[in-house]
Amino acid sequence: MAGMASALQRALSIADLRRIAQRRLPRSVFEFIDGGAEDELTLADNRAAFERVRIVPRVLVDVSAPQLRTDLLGQPSAAPFVIAPMGSCVLGWPQADLCLARTAAAHGIPYTLSTMATTSIERMADAVQGRLWFQLYVLKDRGLNDKLVDRAFAAGYETLVVTLDLPAGGKRERDLRNGISIPLRFSPRHIVEGLTHPHWAWQMLRGGLPEFENVRGLMGQESAGLTIAAKVGQSLDAAYSWDDLARLRARWPRKLLVKGVLHPADAVRLAALGVDGLWVSNHGGRQLDGAIASADALPRLAAALNGKLPLVIDSGVRRGVDALKARALGAQAVAVGRAALFGACAGGEAGAHRALEILIGELALAMKLAGVAAVEKIDATVLDPASLRAA
Ligand SMILES: Cc1cc2nc3c(=O)[nH]c(=O)nc-3n(C[C@H](O)[C@H](O)[C@H](O)COP(=O)(O)O)c2cc1C
Repeated sequence: MAGMASALQRALSIADLRRIAQRRLPRSVFEFIDGGAEDELTLADNRAAFERVRIVPRVLVDVSAPQLRTDLLGQPSAAPFVIAPMGSCVLGWPQADLCLARTAAAHGIPYTLSTMATTSIERMADAVQGRLWFQLYVLKDRGLNDKLVDRAFAAGYETLVVTLDLPAGGKRERDLRNGISIPLRFSPRHIVEGLTHPHWAWQMLRGGLPEFENVRGLMGQESAGLTIAAKVGQSLDAAYSWDDLARLRARWPRKLLVKGVLHPADAVRLAALGVDGLWVSNHGGRQLDGAIASADALPRLAAALNGKLPLVIDSGVRRGVDALKARALGAQAVAVGRAALFGACAGGEAGAHRALEILIGELALAMKLAGVAAVEKIDATVLDPASLRAA
C-alpha cells in the first residue's frame, strides 16, 4: 500500500497515472477504458484539437491567488470540472463509482452517475454528500426510463444528463477482439490475464460479481457475449425523437443537460426546447469514428447559441490547461472521463484524488502563467485569434 501511495505521489501527469493503470490492469480491461471506435481517428483528434489551441499570455496581472470557483448551472463549483458518467468502470477498481464520486465531493465539483453504473442511484445518494448528477441512457423500455428519472428525482439528484449519442453501440474493435462482453464470460485468455495480474484478480474476486444496479434484469443472459457497448446499444431506443425529449423535459423539473451534442443546428433547437445546458461530446471517441473533435465543435456551438445556454465539454481533457482553453472557447466547465478513471484504476480513491489534484494544480498554474486571475474572467481574448479561426 505504501508503494502504491508513493507511486501515486510520483505521478506528475494524467499520462503517468494512465501508465500505472496500464501496468495494473489486464489488457482487455485497459483497452476497454482507453480505446475508441474503429480506427480511433476521433479519439486522437480529441487530443489534437485541444493541443492546437494557443494562448497569448498577459503580463502585470495580480495572479497571486487564482480563483478557480465558478457558477455551474446556478450553483457554485470549486473548479470548472465535472466527472463524466462512466459505466462498467468497476472493471478497473472495486467500487470505482464510489471512489470517483467521493473524490468529486472532496474537490467540490459535480459527479455524474451513469445509468450503467454498478452503484444504484439511491446507494450513491446515501454514500456521497456532494453535487450529484444522473446520466440517463434512453432505453426502449419507456417505463424503465420513467422509473430511472423518478428515482433520480426522489434521491435528490440536482441535474439529469440525457445522453443522445448512443442510438447504437460504437464499433470498438479492441473490445470485440478481447472478448469484453456482458455478462462477463471467462475464456482461457481472461484466466491467463487474471493470473498475470494477481493484485487486480484478487481485488475483483474479493469484490464479488458486480451488478448493473440501476437496470437490474436488462443485462440478462440472452444475447450473452455482446460487447458492453453493443449490449447497451441493443437496449437503447434508436427512435428517440424531439417529442420524446420534450416529454422528458416536462417530467424532470430540475436542471436538464443534453450530452453528445456537436451540431450547431441541434444546439439552437435544443435551446428552444428549453433544456438548461448542452454537454458537447463525442463520447471520448468511443462512438462515431470520424466525428468532429469536441474542442473543434465548441466555438461553433458557442457562436450559434450566443450565450443562450451554458456549455459543458468533454472528450480529450488530459491537462488542467485544457479547462482554460475550453473556457476561452465558450464552455463553462470541462468534464473528465478517462483522466479521472485512470487515476481510480491506478489507486482507487487515492488515485482518483491524485488525478483531480493534478488537473486542478495544472489549471491554477496555467492561469498564473497566462495572466488570468479568475476562471470567471477567462474569455476569447486570451487565445491566439488563429486558434479561434482554425476552429
Ligand atoms: C469506460 C467508459 C465508460 C463510459 N460510460 C459512459 C456512460 O455510461 N454514459 C455516458 O453518457 N458516457 C459514458 N462514457 C463517455 C464519458 O462520459 C465521456 O463522454 C468521455 O469519457 C469523455 O472523453 P475522455 O475520456 O477523453 O474524457 C464512458 C467513457 C468511458 C471511458
